[in-house]
Amino acid sequence: MRISLPISRGLFVLMLLVSAPMAGRALDNGLARTPPMGWNSWNKYACKGLNEKVVRETADAMVSSGMKDAGYQYVVMDDCWQVGRDAQGNILADPERFPSGIKALADYVHSKGLKFGLYTDVGTMTCAKRPGSIGHEYQDAKQYAAWGVDYLKEDWCNTLPGQNSESSYTLMRNALGEAGRPIVFSICEWGSTKPWLWAGQVGNLWRATPDIQDCWDCKRSWGGGGIAPILDLMDGIESYSGPGHWNDPDMLEVGNGGMTNEEYKTHFSMWAMFSAPLLAGNDISNMSPETKEILLNKDVIAIDQDALGQQARRVKKTGDLEVWSKQLSDGGRAVALVNRSAATASISASWTDVGYPDSLSATVRDLWTKKLSSNVKGSFSADVPSHGVVMVRLNP
Ligand code: GLA
Repeated sequence: MRISLPISRGLFVLMLLVSAPMAGRALDNGLARTPPMGWNSWNKYACKGLNEKVVRETADAMVSSGMKDAGYQYVVMDDCWQVGRDAQGNILADPERFPSGIKALADYVHSKGLKFGLYTDVGTMTCAKRPGSIGHEYQDAKQYAAWGVDYLKEDWCNTLPGQNSESSYTLMRNALGEAGRPIVFSICEWGSTKPWLWAGQVGNLWRATPDIQDCWDCKRSWGGGGIAPILDLMDGIESYSGPGHWNDPDMLEVGNGGMTNEEYKTHFSMWAMFSAPLLAGNDISNMSPETKEILLNKDVIAIDQDALGQQARRVKKTGDLEVWSKQLSDGGRAVALVNRSAATASISASWTDVGYPDSLSATVRDLWTKKLSSNVKGSFSADVPSHGVVMVRLNP
């Protein structure tokens, strides 16, 4: 039968509409409307230290430390939980490290009112040379759902020559979509193919930067770096982040010992300014009072979790002295004064820097010292220690 031209053209347009990429739209799985909060094993335990005892103790500590009440929710196992595949291709957990099996561990985490996460890789092997997911995406996603997985991080090691990041991650997104369980999808290709340009409809979060190092401003030859280089990499990609689809500057190093508490305060404050995922990366069963004070600062967490989901912009930079500003859902602003220099310095932020008229009268609340100043007009300033931050909330 001949189809008349107008109908075939209409069909063609319809097909185009159905298949057209929905540019700018977020992944429609309803998850991670605010940045995910939780813990991930990698920064502290790496490959060697991961086992079911650590994960159980972490889940216990998440509750007893008050972190659960503060909003931390996901307990995520990173690389090295997996050891091979059986004859049917099913992914196998390391029986020595996980004698009770992954399902039992997920059940334990769930019994604490928490959620459970796992790690995989788009290539043939993970970065630590455990089995990758290539060719097994649907099979693995089904297995993860059956185990009770709520969060999946997928890495970018040992890919095939020419393997495309967007299509590889889209494959896993589709597999998770059909697995029958809501699973937050965390893309981890280190920012190497500018995921902010394509991942909004593919993942709930994507690493925008290489691996974090537990240092203020070190840079590794392979790309990893400390807090200062990450601040620079986050500058300029603000508009791609928002509810359900977040730029991820990597997991937290707070409490791991490589930085001063002042630097950790800056690290945590800036991750909150960025609306970054807050995945603690330390031993939360043995935290110093200072580490606890940082990770449990509810005023700073509230800035991270603000419903508007805006990523802070660097609105002023004078050498090593910076002002970052983030609009909040109540019309307020979170403002961070950051001193990257080697000595204490005074930094000021004016209302026009943060998008307010000069004449506006606002309260200024310091989110670390809790000091409140009322009827402030035009600007505020503060002495900021070396590598430190003063973080405030402005409300007109
Ligand atoms: C990569 C990732 C890290 C971690 C390791 C595990 O480097 O970026 O976050 O998952 O692999 O091997």
